[in-house]
Amino acid sequence: MYLYHFGLRELPFTLTPNTSYYFGLPSHKQAIEVLTLALKTGEGFIKVTGEVGTGKTLLCRKLLNELPDHFVSAYIPNPYLSPAELRLAVARELGVIFDGPVDQQEFTQRIQQRLIDIHRQGQAAVLIIDEAQALPVESIEALRLFSNLETESQKLLQVVLFGQPELDTKLALPELRQLKQRIGFSYQLSVMDLDQLTQYVRHRMQVAGYRGGDVFSAACCKKLFRASQGTPRLVNVLCHKALMLAFGEGKMQVTPTHMQLAVQDTEAAIQSSTRLAWPLLFSLLAGVLLLGAGYWFWLRWL
Ligand SMILES: Nc1ncnc2c1ncn2[C@@H]1O[C@H](COP(=O)(O)OP(=O)(O)OP(=O)(O)O)[C@@H](O)[C@H]1O
Ligand SMILES: [Mg+2]
Repeated sequence: MYLYHFGLRELPFTLTPNTSYYFGLPSHKQAIEVLTLALKTGEGFIKVTGEVGTGKTLLCRKLLNELPDHFVSAYIPNPYLSPAELRLAVARELGVIFDGPVDQQEFTQRIQQRLIDIHRQGQAAVLIIDEAQALPVESIEALRLFSNLETESQKLLQVVLFGQPELDTKLALPELRQLKQRIGFSYQLSVMDLDQLTQYVRHRMQVAGYRGGDVFSAACCKKLFRASQGTPRLVNVLCHKALMLAFGEGKMQVTPTHMQLAVQDTEAAIQSSTRLAWPLLFSLLAGVLLLGAGYWFWLRWL
C-alpha cells in the first residue's frame, strides 16, 4: 500500500466513521450546535437528516462521545426492529435489569421506572437512533409512546433521530402526524462546496500523518468535486483510489489523470460529460464521412 510512500501512519480515506478524523464542516458544526441546544432545552424529538454518505453516523458517534456526564445514553445503530424488539433494545441500553420473563406491559413499566430513577438522580436520558429511516412505522409509534413519559415539567426521554431523506417521507405519513408534531428541532446536513472539500482532503491527510505539500492539486480537487458532488464518502473512495494510482507510478502528487481514472472506476461517481461526448462526436463524424464517401462512390462508379 501507499503508506510508506506518502509518509502516512494510517490510511487517510477509509469509509469507517472514525471521530478522530472529524473535520468541522460548517454544516456539521451547526448540526452539533442544534443538537446541544435541543438537548439542553429538553425537547422530546430531535431530527437530523442528510443524504447517503454525508456524515450522519460520524455525527452520531461524535455526539455520543461528547454528551455531558449527566446524560444516560441509549444508542440504537440498526433500528430495523419490531416495537417489542425496539423496547428490548432500549431497555438493555438503559441498563434495565430483568430477572425473568415479563409481558409487554410490565416491560414498559420497568423502562418507565428506570427513566424516573435516572431523573431522580439528576440525570437525563437520551435515545439516539441512527438509520432512523429504517424504523418500521409501528416502531416509530412505539417511540412516540416512550416520549410521552414525562414529569410535570420535563420529558423523561429525549429522542434523537438520524436518517436519510426517506425518514421525512415516512414522517409525512398521516398515521405519524402526532410524532411529526413533536419534533422540536430538526437539521438537514448539506454536502461540501469546493473550498470545504479541498480543506477536508488536506485535513484527512494530515490526521493520517502526512507532513508535506498538497498531494491533491487545485485541478484535482475540482475534478473530485464534480465527480463527488461534495459527498464525503464518495470523496474518500475517490481519494483512496487516486492515491493508489499515484503510488503505482511513483508520484508524490495525484494528477488530474489519476483522479479521472479513479472516477471512471467508481460507479457512484458522476462521470464527466466530456468523456462521453468526445467518442460520441468522433463516431458521428466518422459515420457521416463514411456515408458521404459511399454516396460519392455510388454516383461516380455505378
Ligand atoms: N465532517 C467530517 N469529517 C471527517 N470525515 C467525515 C465527515 N463527514 C463525513 N465524513 C466521512 O465520510 C464517510 C461517510 O460518513 P457516514 O458513514 O457518517 O455517512 P452517513 O451519512 O451515515 O451515510 P449513510 O446514509 O450511508 O448511513 C465516513 O468515512 C466519514 O468518516
Ligand atoms: Mg450512516
